[in-house]
Amino acid sequence: MKTNCKHWDAIFSGTEDQDLGWYEKNASQTLKLLKLVPGLKKARVFIPGAGTSVLIEELLLKCAEITVNDISAEALSRVKKRVNDKKGKIDFLCRDISRPLPRTLPKADIWIDRAVLHFLRDKDAINGYFRNVRSFLKPCGYAIFLEFSKTGASKCAGLPLHRYSVAELSKKLGPSFELISHFDYTFINPNGDPRPYIYTLFRKIK
Ligand SMILES: C[S@@+](CC[C@H](N)C(=O)[O-])C[C@H]1O[C@@H](n2cnc3c(N)ncnc32)[C@H](O)[C@@H]1O
Repeated sequence: MKTNCKHWDAIFSGTEDQDLGWYEKNASQTLKLLKLVPGLKKARVFIPGAGTSVLIEELLLKCAEITVNDISAEALSRVKKRVNDKKGKIDFLCRDISRPLPRTLPKADIWIDRAVLHFLRDKDAINGYFRNVRSFLKPCGYAIFLEFSKTGASKCAGLPLHRYSVAELSKKLGPSFELISHFDYTFINPNGDPRPYIYTLFRKIK
């Protein structure tokens, strides 16, 4: 069996962005939640699995600094070639987000996950992910999770998924997070198939 990073590298090296199953032309639904976050202009954002998302360009316009992480070096290399980061706002990181992040990593004001967490199925991997969220988000920081809902597809990118409800996300985050907003959103993928997601925004209380 391929390792996780080889699996993702093979997908990114063999597929144009617009043919990726999760490709979206714009990040308007994510931006709806981001609008509820105060102090965007000064914020440092952490993206745990950025892929080649156009959200990166949006954040370049709206935020101060961005850490773009992905397990796939291939995806990161494509983003580096595409994005015009004139002001040096982006740091790139190639880590498995279920493993401990480097202690030297600057803490973030906002964590934005679209369709990454739901690929983690092993209990230790899921717990490792949430440990990173708790450790690398500043007090009063915001976390956005956009994951396949309980009624969503059971597989994506050839991998089985752990689908989420808002209640399960709240439970995983624990009492130091409060739910600020959430909505259901059915993404229509490039093949025309509906993909029901939950869109959620949480705030770290302390
Ligand atoms: C479905 S894609 C979503 C990409 C991007 N967030 C978007 O909305 O276009 C999932 C992304 O998560 C990355 N990924 C999968 N498992 C990961 C892990 N354990 N750690 C970090 N990134 C991971 C993949 O390489 C891929 O870029």
